[in-house]
Amino acid sequence: MENILTLGIETSCDETAAAVLRGGRELLSNLISTQIPLHRKFGGVVPEIASRNHIVNIMPVIDEALAKANVKLKEINQVAVTFGPGLAGALLVGLSAAKSLAYALNVPLIAVNHLEGHIFANFLSAPDLEPPFLALVVSGGHTALIKMIDYNKFELLGQSRDDAAGEAFDKIARVMDLPYPGGPEIDKLAKSGNPDAVHFPHPKVTGYDFSFSGLKSAVLNYLNSAQMKGETINPADVAASFQKTVVDTLTEKTLNAAEEFKLDKIVLAGGVAANSSLEKSLREACENRGFGFYYPSKILCTDNAAMIACRGYYQSLENNFADSTLNAVPNLGL
Ligand code: KG4
Ligand code: ZN
Repeated sequence: MENILTLGIETSCDETAAAVLRGGRELLSNLISTQIPLHRKFGGVVPEIASRNHIVNIMPVIDEALAKANVKLKEINQVAVTFGPGLAGALLVGLSAAKSLAYALNVPLIAVNHLEGHIFANFLSAPDLEPPFLALVVSGGHTALIKMIDYNKFELLGQSRDDAAGEAFDKIARVMDLPYPGGPEIDKLAKSGNPDAVHFPHPKVTGYDFSFSGLKSAVLNYLNSAQMKGETINPADVAASFQKTVVDTLTEKTLNAAEEFKLDKIVLAGGVAANSSLEKSLREACENRGFGFYYPSKILCTDNAAMIACRGYYQSLENNFADSTLNAVPNLGL
């Protein structure tokens, strides 16, 4: 199985991506064509524009991924593709490409859950990582704590009841007139701000579920009331204070879960894993308690097909294959 070549395909949102993986961990190529500049002028992803651009980009991106890997199409042993969650039209482009290639090559097709893919990005960044561990998935659409018992066995401990962490970052950035996607912009701005300047209430949700809509409203109220009173605000302080509230909440719940479930390795995953303050906070907390801490390299944090190929490889070890009736599941959960 070490020499199995998996072609990964990812088109769930605004990145058209393809990657070639040898075995479970040897990444031969990882191509990402981002549409961020196209969507920026609308302040967020426009689904129809995303689908159309995936159609234009998908085959060139796959060709380039094969060329970079120095692998011929006919050498591919299996095709792994994201089937959800994501935008329906965007997912369908990747699915159509993957199904056609698997059929033409007469190789197995593997249906991958995008969120599981984010966790598996860590296996590519840290070749020594093995389950069991606790995973915190923080992306644009999801916030979740997952107990990874084994490669193909996991348990959802809790998730966001409303906005995902990334969604809160993006919405706050938008009202502060920062460009899309807002997460990296808030991260940058927060570096020059005082995280204790503004007190925003910490979300109060028991157990391992999360809620970020109350915090989002508190920040919006703060900005609106300052504007109505004609007061000037310090955007860097607002960004830093908001970010700290999110980071503290995520760190606290994650550490509590690690202790309760006796897991001594914590794995960070998803686009918000690229947040410098979250990474620092979790790293320090893990160091203090003697836990191992893992998070993917920046390019593997946000959407990519390498993580999809990796997840697909481990599914193939259990003969977990799909057939040509595979359809997109936009609201697929964990
Ligand atoms: O995982 P991802 O690429 O796409 C989804 O599956 O949703 O995550 C995108 C999210 C966006 O909300 C983006 O603002 C956020 O990740 N993000 C960040 C940072 N980089 C990306 N959030 C905070 N700080 C960052 N540095
Ligand atoms: Zn994602």
